[in-house]
Amino acid sequence: MSEFEPKILGFLCNWCSYAGADLAGVSRVQYPPNIRVIRVMCSGRVDPHFIFKAFEMGIDGVAVLGCHIGDCHYQSGNHQAEKKIELTSQALKEVGLQPERLQLDWVSAAEGQRFGQLITSFTDKIRELGPISDIPDYQNKAKLGGNIVGVTRLRWLVGKEYEIFEKGNVYKEEIDQDEYKNIMWQNIEFEFKKELICSALAEEPRMVRDIAEELALPNKLVFDYITEMENEGRIHLVDFDGNLPRYRLAKGGEP
Ligand code: FES
Repeated sequence: MSEFEPKILGFLCNWCSYAGADLAGVSRVQYPPNIRVIRVMCSGRVDPHFIFKAFEMGIDGVAVLGCHIGDCHYQSGNHQAEKKIELTSQALKEVGLQPERLQLDWVSAAEGQRFGQLITSFTDKIRELGPISDIPDYQNKAKLGGNIVGVTRLRWLVGKEYEIFEKGNVYKEEIDQDEYKNIMWQNIEFEFKKELICSALAEEPRMVRDIAEELALPNKLVFDYITEMENEGRIHLVDFDGNLPRYRLAKGGEP
């Protein structure tokens, strides 16, 4: 049987890592040919959604490489990248994809050798993890992850995190960073459950009780999420079975 060759996608910042990769090339640094590169202006430009899309398309590992901390040409871009990758890793864990398939690191324009080493060790790690296509239902999981990281509330929390803890909020209040993180992780969990409910409603109208049983969630929790999604216009009440309401996905509410 032929050995598994992982498909690696690298998002490289234009100013440092891409130049570092270029230097690796002209210096003839040896590294595995498994990587395909997308050049971005800054590591902070890499939206979590891009990463889930890559996994959904069958990419086995994603590396995001930017300028070293303090060297970003847009000042805080790589700090933003750190926050986004942290969120993405947490969402990967929540949907059942290995967060180890995602790596954030720094490579300067003078570090061709380092670029080669990072790509070699990351490719080896992904080779050990095996193909993403071996994970049952990986495309659906990646799709759900993409939906989770697209939620406005989460994007806002991630986008503001660096600024809030560097400069404080507008009221100059002290905010506990652990508490802030907990709010984010809880939101990921809530959004994941909402996505599961939407998946359960994808085929036909159903009652709260049936969905709760299928997902092993309390009736009350499912009802609360359905009410929330009804208010968001993602779910509609269709009819009643006896006196129990049945719901279905609204157009555009698909997970
Ligand atoms: S410009 Fe390189 S990480 Fe921002």
